[in-house]
Amino acid sequence: MTRRPARIAPSVLSADLGHLAEQIKELEAGGADWVHIDVMDGNFVPNLTFGAPLIKALRKLTELPLDVHLMVQRPEQYIAEYAALGANVFTFHPEATIHVQRQLAAIRDAGMQAGLALNPATPLSAIEEVIPDLDLVLVMSVSPGFGGQSYIPSATGKIARIRRLLDEAGSSAVLEVDGGVTVKTIGAAYRAGADTFVAGTAVFGAARIDGAIRLLKASCSDAAIA
Ligand code: DX5
Ligand code: ZN
Repeated sequence: MTRRPARIAPSVLSADLGHLAEQIKELEAGGADWVHIDVMDGNFVPNLTFGAPLIKALRKLTELPLDVHLMVQRPEQYIAEYAALGANVFTFHPEATIHVQRQLAAIRDAGMQAGLALNPATPLSAIEEVIPDLDLVLVMSVSPGFGGQSYIPSATGKIARIRRLLDEAGSSAVLEVDGGVTVKTIGAAYRAGADTFVAGTAVFGAARIDGAIRLLKASCSDAAIA
């Protein structure tokens, strides 16, 4: 089975926001595929980050798809606004709203790709009934809230189970992994069936942003032939 080439979505949570324009240029030069934006409300997760103003600024800085990950209570309150600002992917946590299927449909109606994020303790049953409504599943390989955490090894088995679930359902949803993705962990996640990888520290903490992205992609190609 030919594999989708690995897609890298650097998380700007780890970027130097004082030099964002330059860092986005370096991301593009390094072959980044998406820009991952971690919106946190200090309520659903213990950290408070950014929202609409940063999405607006990033839309002006790059043509790359904006992959918005909402770690907020009641994410539905942001669907129309983020769509209008040019967000491309809108991913939320099922625990954060009452009517999950309704919000997935609303995200698609607003012209964005609809994604659900599964925390380490959230079972696959959270997505089983809404696979036709999903364009993306985000597997959290850390507990959400902060960059720079270590990859939780059990995420690899969960990726493989979700891969099987999506394949059996004939779904073409993106399978994205988020948290602690480095050259040491990306290979196993790619082999398990993920195709898109968020990387914050591994990219923005590296000596060279462009080189770090190339290294992450190369680690997937190596894993594919191993
Ligand atoms: C964590 C965020 C992740 C995080 C990734 O709650 O959803 O996107 O920024 O950062 P690293 O790659 O450093 O774990
Ligand atoms: Zn994220």
